[in-house]
Amino acid sequence: MDNFVHINANTRYCGLLGYPVRHSASPSFQNAALSFLHLNWRYLAMEVHPKSLFHAIEGAKSMGFIGLNLTVPHKETGFKLANKVNPTAQILGAINTICFEGLNKDGEWLPIRNWKNDSPVEVRSVGYNTDSDAIPASLKENFGFVSAQKSILILGAGGAGRVAALRLSAEGAKKIYIINRTVQKAENLAEEIHSHYPGTEVILQYPDPSEKVDLILNATSLGLKSSDPIPLDINQFSMRQAKYAFDMIYRPAETPFLTMARQSGCQIANGINMLLYQGAASLELWTGLPAPIEIMRKALIENIYHN
Ligand code: ATR
Repeated sequence: MDNFVHINANTRYCGLLGYPVRHSASPSFQNAALSFLHLNWRYLAMEVHPKSLFHAIEGAKSMGFIGLNLTVPHKETGFKLANKVNPTAQILGAINTICFEGLNKDGEWLPIRNWKNDSPVEVRSVGYNTDSDAIPASLKENFGFVSAQKSILILGAGGAGRVAALRLSAEGAKKIYIINRTVQKAENLAEEIHSHYPGTEVILQYPDPSEKVDLILNATSLGLKSSDPIPLDINQFSMRQAKYAFDMIYRPAETPFLTMARQSGCQIANGINMLLYQGAASLELWTGLPAPIEIMRKALIENIYHN
């Protein structure tokens, strides 16, 4: 942090809006990156009640913020409030990143970082979903895994499971099995996949015992608490049927789900890289520069596992 350009009247801001937000590791690794890049910027975390989201985004717009991250529970409302949304986020109906853009006198919308001495005529918010980008990036880094033509079992059809299922289908997955406690949510998700990605077969039950899957992915919240049960029915599916096991949870670093998978011979990984890559992609959108991944990774791991 010693590289930080001191806060002065030229300091620009980005930030995270969530409710709650105090647990977030994002300020630690985003500020490490800003410092490394010698930008006179800061990344702040702000607890914003859902009732105030509109005013918070408009306030950030008025105050010359470069951009925002949105976390639970703001991703869907943020999508509705954004002035423009990129095509990936359009399908997901949820955003976790906003870039502010300013209109110049020639009618062009340019990133707010480009305004140094003058002010734009008007500012708009453009929404992105970098959570979605982080899924293939993590699977690639952790396992060298590419989804095209693969069979994948996804546990959970909530916010995270839905983004994973849609993104992995977009990447060309051959078969996606989806299991969710509330069956209706899995059925709705299957409908969405059919309509956007008809090349992906969706099956709403466990694979047959004779069948193998390339990847099993936990996108439920089971495993966050030590008292949680394993997120799958081991009478219906054996981890030996899977090659790779990924848990979106990163704290604890190894959930009982991952322990069981490891003991069954799967290669395993937790969700820490998803947190890293969604943040890195947001930073790249705001700065227009390549994210210093290793600097961010070091700060993130320090914050999550050594604090
Ligand atoms: P997130 O945004 O993290 O995905 P979410 O949308 O609340 O959060 O989704 C949580 C997921 O964990 C859902 O798949 C949820 O199942 P339901 O859709 O049936 O709620 C799953 N989950 C949470 N608690 C569970 C439990 N006790 N047993 C089984 N699944 C559970």
